[in-house]
Amino acid sequence: MNANHLWLSQFADCLPEHLATPMDVALAELAAFPDLPVALRLQEDLGDQWRWEQSGTMEQLTGGMTGLLYGTYARIFAHLARQPMPSGVQSPAYPLRMLNCWDNLSGNVERGYAGRSLFFENGALAYDPARIRMLARLLASCSVNVLCINNVNVIQEAQRLMEDLLPDVAELAALFRPFGIRLMLSCDFALPVRHGLSTADPLDPQVQKFWNDRAEKVWHAVPDLVGFVVKADSEHRPGPFTYGRTHADGANMLARAVKPFGGTIVWRAFVYNCQQDWRDTMTDRPKAAYDTYMPLDGSFDDNVILQIKNGPFDFQVREPVSPALLSMQHTHLAMELQLTQEYTGQQIDIFSMPPMWEEIFHDLSPARICSIAAVANIGRDSCIVGHPFAAVNLYGYGCIAWNPCTKPEEIIDTWCTLTYPSLCPEKHDLLKNLLLRSRRVYEKYTAPLSLCWMVVPSIHYGPSPEGYEFTPWGTFNRADRNAVGVDRTSKGTGYVLQYPAPLRDLYENPRTCPDVLLLFFHRMRYDTILSDGRTLIQRIYDDHFEGYEEVEAMEQDLYQLAPLLPPEDREQVCSRIILQKANAREWRDVVNTFFHRLSGIEDVHNRKIYD
Ligand code: GCU
Repeated sequence: MNANHLWLSQFADCLPEHLATPMDVALAELAAFPDLPVALRLQEDLGDQWRWEQSGTMEQLTGGMTGLLYGTYARIFAHLARQPMPSGVQSPAYPLRMLNCWDNLSGNVERGYAGRSLFFENGALAYDPARIRMLARLLASCSVNVLCINNVNVIQEAQRLMEDLLPDVAELAALFRPFGIRLMLSCDFALPVRHGLSTADPLDPQVQKFWNDRAEKVWHAVPDLVGFVVKADSEHRPGPFTYGRTHADGANMLARAVKPFGGTIVWRAFVYNCQQDWRDTMTDRPKAAYDTYMPLDGSFDDNVILQIKNGPFDFQVREPVSPALLSMQHTHLAMELQLTQEYTGQQIDIFSMPPMWEEIFHDLSPARICSIAAVANIGRDSCIVGHPFAAVNLYGYGCIAWNPCTKPEEIIDTWCTLTYPSLCPEKHDLLKNLLLRSRRVYEKYTAPLSLCWMVVPSIHYGPSPEGYEFTPWGTFNRADRNAVGVDRTSKGTGYVLQYPAPLRDLYENPRTCPDVLLLFFHRMRYDTILSDGRTLIQRIYDDHFEGYEEVEAMEQDLYQLAPLLPPEDREQVCSRIILQKANAREWRDVVNTFFHRLSGIEDVHNRKIYD
């Protein structure tokens, strides 16, 4: 990996090795920009905060230890992008800006599309310190300050991170520390059982003692560890339900064990019945998080954060905001986003996420959550994120973690300037517009009107209209010859009732429900006339045809841009757009054919749909 590929393209190639503090890193970064007359003034109590002032030709940056680092990156970025510096004290919206890596000790990355793990190989820690420093630098430059290094699905061998591999974890933590980044570990709720105890019951004193001792050992090795991430009672992971306990019982037991060390428990709320009988139309998976956690609101300890995915399903291309995020009043909440493009093109198809996040924060007041997390999209590939343009999602995530109101246009514009500074204004705009529209294009050819889950099971790339239909995962569209979708209104599963007004009323009524969410909330006949005068089936056909055509247009734009990109990026981008086009074609033809066969309704424009 080389800085020249990402948004630090104009920075010094590498930093000196033995930098001890974030302020040292800040000074080292500034050294490469001698034209910037910036003096740093440390004011410890400011923490992450910073303030920039100018007097005459001199500039002063005042900040806490990490604040100086963030202010320095902001200053250099403003200089490179020729943007003004903000005035007044700058502070992050969220103190914990977390990145969750789903890396296994084997080196494999669950849902990873950027190569193997940057941290692990063959059951042990194995990394190139220079790459880790580079990663740390990238993350710090966009304000990410917490990194969970191992997969939430903690399989047996990963427990070693809390045992014999702890000294290695401590060494890795030391590499990140000068960049203001602290580590977390995912932990296995059943760890006491794996150590010979007969139970992992959170109310059992022996289990509590086990965790107290374990926490002491872990924090002894890594004193500034942020805490543990826990996936419990989710997709076959062990959890408190086995012992008839609640998730508050489970989370609080761990929280009390880590509290003496200032630790935090990040408890994931991804709990649903993954063994549902498809014949059962009463159980509705999106209702699960709210049903499980609302009754517990107010019963979690202070050092527990409930981490809830942005939508109620699972990182689909389009979902409404999770009602649990909107409704829980007395629990510390974190929203979990997914940068790795599991359902969103797998870093083959271009999918720039900032426009999607803006929509989420339209419905979710940023103040409802106290932290933010994202599943990482990084790996050992030369450009670290698989597709060079996927870096905009990592960079953009850092931007919104600092300030969730940052506009997508601003994020993408700055990223393009920093990453490809030599593009002329016309080509810069071509790239920016391509990225800005990429999510909408992907949505059209894969999941228009929120027609999600028509994806190849398990790998989650490519179309399979009934792939998830008769499975136990609670992911149904129930398409028949007349209609498609699940009725989640008050007359159906009642999911919509989990929303506070006015969203509840908006979604309840198909006439006010935004088109893009129609089939999430409503079961609709194919001949229903939508707000734009077209029938539902015609919209399905049209969006798939248009989505493909828009990929063709993106391809043309890319061919104009390609000669101007660095050779490695050019090669990656050009080879992937061919795959994206093939993918879009497949989606168009498979999904249109599926609905054409079912409904027998012709496309009004008589385009080619297979029989
Ligand atoms: C999805 C994903 C899994 C992952 C899970 C989670 O279901 O497919 O690979 O483990 O989310 O968020 O825990």
